[in-house]
Amino acid sequence: MLSGDKATDVQHRFLVDVVNEIADVIDDGTAKTQLGQILPLLDMYVEWHFEREEKCMFRRSCPYAYANERAHESFMTVVKRFRVRYQAEGGSQAMAEEMYHFMCDWLVNHIIKIDSTMRDYPDRTEKPY
Ligand SMILES: [Fe+2]
Repeated sequence: MLSGDKATDVQHRFLVDVVNEIADVIDDGTAKTQLGQILPLLDMYVEWHFEREEKCMFRRSCPYAYANERAHESFMTVVKRFRVRYQAEGGSQAMAEEMYHFMCDWLVNHIIKIDSTMRDYPDRTEKPY
């Protein structure tokens, strides 16, 4: 487990799948028609994942909990900008490439560097099923 929390890791894998979807539409040259289906996946990820992960970090007294929260806010701002741009201009290859680079940077600089710090702070309140 990368983050030390199984559900968090499963949710992160979902995001990797979304990044792969973006890579596919870039390769296929179908960004113009497909980005409209990918953007809602990012909204879904934000709703499904961020609050849960933030609570998990605070519960563990992880020193990166506040930095994590701020990073999530920045992520949501960028995703909102993509959404607004998509609504104004529609999808494009250039936008898909920007999204791809943004997401890859997020995987490396957020998930690997910040989220994974949780594993050093075990959740002592967690009850086994
Ligand atoms: Fe995070």
